[in-house]
Amino acid sequence: MPAPSLFRKFPMTCSIDALERRVGEIVAEIEGRLVATRRTLHANPELAFAEHETAALVASFLADLGIEYRAGIGKTGIAALIGSGPGRTVGIRGDMDALPIEERSGAPYASHRPGVMHACGHDAHTAIALGVAAVMARLGDDLPGRAMMIFQPAEESLNGARAMLADGLFDGIKPDVMLGYHNWPLLPAGTVGWHPDVAFASSDGFDVTITGKSGHGAHPHLAVDPVVAMAHFINEIQMIVSREIAPLAAAVVTVGRVQGGTARNQIPDSVHLEGTIRTLHPETRDHVMAALERVARGTAEGHRVACEVTFVPGVAVVRNDPAVLPVVLAAARDRLGEERVICLPQGSMGSEDFAEYSSRVPAAHLRLGSKREGLDTMLHRSDFDLDEGCIAVGAAVMSAAALRLMTA
Ligand code: NI
Repeated sequence: MPAPSLFRKFPMTCSIDALERRVGEIVAEIEGRLVATRRTLHANPELAFAEHETAALVASFLADLGIEYRAGIGKTGIAALIGSGPGRTVGIRGDMDALPIEERSGAPYASHRPGVMHACGHDAHTAIALGVAAVMARLGDDLPGRAMMIFQPAEESLNGARAMLADGLFDGIKPDVMLGYHNWPLLPAGTVGWHPDVAFASSDGFDVTITGKSGHGAHPHLAVDPVVAMAHFINEIQMIVSREIAPLAAAVVTVGRVQGGTARNQIPDSVHLEGTIRTLHPETRDHVMAALERVARGTAEGHRVACEVTFVPGVAVVRNDPAVLPVVLAAARDRLGEERVICLPQGSMGSEDFAEYSSRVPAAHLRLGSKREGLDTMLHRSDFDLDEGCIAVGAAVMSAAALRLMTA
């Protein structure tokens, strides 16, 4: 028996085609204000859970539109429910936080804050979500369903979504569908990218402490050396991905930090390591974690040390829902043209805490092409900037997709 359709049909007073035509007009009308808003946010970036001015700007933008909102969700998050149609409730999430990076873009709207920068384009994401909110507010009573606009803190630390959900984001009304997006400097502005299955990898941290016995560097036989043991451990775990995981089941194990010792002629008591695991499938994630523990046991035995592994749970895979994604892609194709809706050959081994929503609600996540002609950069670089054309494209595509998902 075929699975029941995820979406019901609802009678409508106003056709989706007519509403989508109005989307284009509204976005064209407000694009200038959205770009100006993005530049204000870019000049005044705020780190995870410190997005106070950003949230105040979002709140005043929503208030100007006559939209009621709830602020202070998960510390600095804001949510607003727009519309009262009988159709589905579609959640649209924009993230708001910046990164601890010194900006070197040279842009006239560059960061005024030393050591803090919108190097991932979340300023544009916030502007896009405000654009969608403006469209939804303007369509008002004609909306076939409801839009839940979510302005989220702390995506970079991967715990802002969790904080908003723990603070009751979905307690009153849970969206039926969620939409997410991220600008993508590897695609030209005016395009969107998608992957049929996995949009982002899972991410988990691991901490390892190897403890031996300290001693003089000249008398290693009187000590138990944790430095050599750690060197072996780091080499050994490179073989988890290369020798234990199937080549097409992607995984990454990266050691990003090693600390130990205080002098060249002293063997320290312990050495500490921090790393990250990225995978696309839960069974791969479990395998990598079990292998790390196994190698730790072997290191302890082989090197006469104690080897303790602690995992720092991160976020799950972001997977596109097979019923939601086609609706979103159809909306994007009708708006941008078939050739501007690009199937990406791979998902990303990067991670997104949009996973907190997509693991609770059927969801889709799109890349919004943001490459600026002549600028060779990437996310999280100090010279990062984007083509602001992605703001209008994002607002229009997300609005059109939301309208269809309310009724599809
Ligand atoms: Ni980002």
